[in-house]
Amino acid sequence: MSGFVTPTFGRRTKLPSEQALEAAPAQRAALREEAAGTANVPAEAIAEVRAQCLARLEPAAIAAMPPERLAGEVEKLIAEIATERRIQLNGREQRNLAGELVHDIVGLGPLEPLLEDDTISDIMVNGPNRTFVERGGKVVQANIRFRDATHLANICQRIAAAIGRRIDESSPMVDARLKDGSRVNIVFPPLALDGPYMSIRKFGRKVIDFAKLVEYKALTLQVARALEVASRARLNIIISGGTGSGKTTLMNALSRLIDPGERVVTVEDAAELQLQQPHVVRLETRPASLEGRGEINQRDLVRNALRMRPDRIIIGEVRGGEAFDMLQAMNTGHDGSMSTIHANTTRDALTRIENMVQMGHMGLPSAAIRTQIVGAVDLIVQVERHRDGGRRITQVSEVCGMEGDVITMNDIFQFEMLGEGHDGKIFGRYEVNRTPPSFRARLAYFGLERAWQAALEDTAS
Ligand SMILES: Nc1ncnc2c1ncn2[C@@H]1O[C@H](COP(=O)(O)OP(=O)(O)O)[C@@H](O)[C@H]1O
Ligand SMILES: [Mg+2]
Repeated sequence: MSGFVTPTFGRRTKLPSEQALEAAPAQRAALREEAAGTANVPAEAIAEVRAQCLARLEPAAIAAMPPERLAGEVEKLIAEIATERRIQLNGREQRNLAGELVHDIVGLGPLEPLLEDDTISDIMVNGPNRTFVERGGKVVQANIRFRDATHLANICQRIAAAIGRRIDESSPMVDARLKDGSRVNIVFPPLALDGPYMSIRKFGRKVIDFAKLVEYKALTLQVARALEVASRARLNIIISGGTGSGKTTLMNALSRLIDPGERVVTVEDAAELQLQQPHVVRLETRPASLEGRGEINQRDLVRNALRMRPDRIIIGEVRGGEAFDMLQAMNTGHDGSMSTIHANTTRDALTRIENMVQMGHMGLPSAAIRTQIVGAVDLIVQVERHRDGGRRITQVSEVCGMEGDVITMNDIFQFEMLGEGHDGKIFGRYEVNRTPPSFRARLAYFGLERAWQAALEDTAS
C-alpha cells in the first residue's frame, strides 16, 4: 500500500450510492455496481453500511493499525452492521466494500489498485470522472471513478500535505512525490477547468537493465556492448529524448556498469535514479517555501557536488543554468559523468546545452561555449518513444571537434525503421559507422580499443 496514514473523518462527501439515487434509473445499476461490486444490494443500504462503519471506527486505533489488520477489522464491522440492519451482503460484497473503505481511509482511494498494478506506468486523472493509465506504452481509460470533485480534492490534499505542501485555490499547482517514489503533479481549479487534475509518473519497481532493454528491443546487443565499453572508458555521456522516451531508464541501466569502488554523486529535481553501488551520494533540489524562501536548485547542488570529491557526477536532467556547471565538471576530471536532456536529435541536444549556458551566462561568446561542450561531452544517445509504444535508441553520436565555429559530430549508430510487423511492432536495423572514434586515445588508455571494435563488428545481433 502506498498511501498515507491519515484518517479522514467528519468528511462529508456525496456517496456513490447517493449519486446513484439521484441518477437516472438507467444509470443506477451501473453506478451501484461501481460502488463496491455490490450490484444486488440497494444503494441506500450500501450507503448506510458505509456511514455506520465510518462512524464506529476509532480514528486513533486506525492510525496505529497495519492496513492488513484494518481490512479485517472493517470487514468484521461491515458484517456486524449488515446483520443488525438485516442487509443481505455476501462474502465478496463485504470484502469489496471493506477494501474500498480501507483505501479511502488510509490510502489514495480509487487510485490504490492502479498504484499496485506494476504494469501501469502513468496515471492521469482528468477530474473525478475520467482517469487514464499508460500500460505497455498505450494510454487507455481506467475503470475507476471518484465519488465527486471533493473526494478527489481530498486525496490530492493528502498527497501534498504528506510532503509539507498545501494545495488550494491560492496555490493551485503542486509537484509532490508519493511514499514509493512516484512523482505527482496536481493542478486545482480554477486553473484546472474540469479538475482537480493529477498526473502520476509511477516509480518503476522493476529494474530495467541492459539485458531487459535488449529483450524489449530498445537496442541491439551490439549497441549495448558499445555503450558498455563507453561507460567503462569513462566517457561523458548525455542521453537525449522527449518526455517519457526512456531517458532515465537508460541512464539507470548505464549507471549499473559503474565500478562499485567509485564515489558517485547524483543531483536530481525529483529522485528517480536507482544506483545499486554502495558509494552513492544522492542530492535532491528543494522548492521555495510558501513564503518564497529557501530554494535550492540544481545549479547549487552541482556546485556543491564538486566539493564532495566525486569520481563521477550524475545529473538527472539538465534543464537550466546548471548546464554550465555540468560542463565545468566534465572538463575538470570528473570523467564518466552523465545526464539526460530534453531534445529531439543529438545535434539538437548540443544546441540546447548551448542555450542553457547562454541563459545563465549572458555575454559568454558562442564559440567559447562550444569549445567547452566539445571538451566536455563525448557521446550523445538519442532515445525515442515510437508509435507502437516501444522505446528505442535511435542514434548514438560522438562529439568530434570544431570546424570553424561549428561542432562536428559523427553518428556511430543510426536506427533505420524498416517496417511494422503483424503485431504492430516496429522493426528496423542500425546503420553502423566504424571509423575510429575521436575518443580512441581514451579507449586505448583503458585498454578497450579492441573491445570497442569488436562491439561494432558484431553483426550477429
Ligand atoms: N525500453 C523500454 N521498454 C519499455 N518500457 C520502457 C523502456 N524504457 C522506459 N520504459 C518505461 O517508460 C516510462 C518512461 O521512462 P523514463 O525513463 O522515465 O522516461 P524519461 O526519463 O525519458 O521521461 C517508464 O515507465 C519506463 O519504465
Ligand atoms: Mg526522466
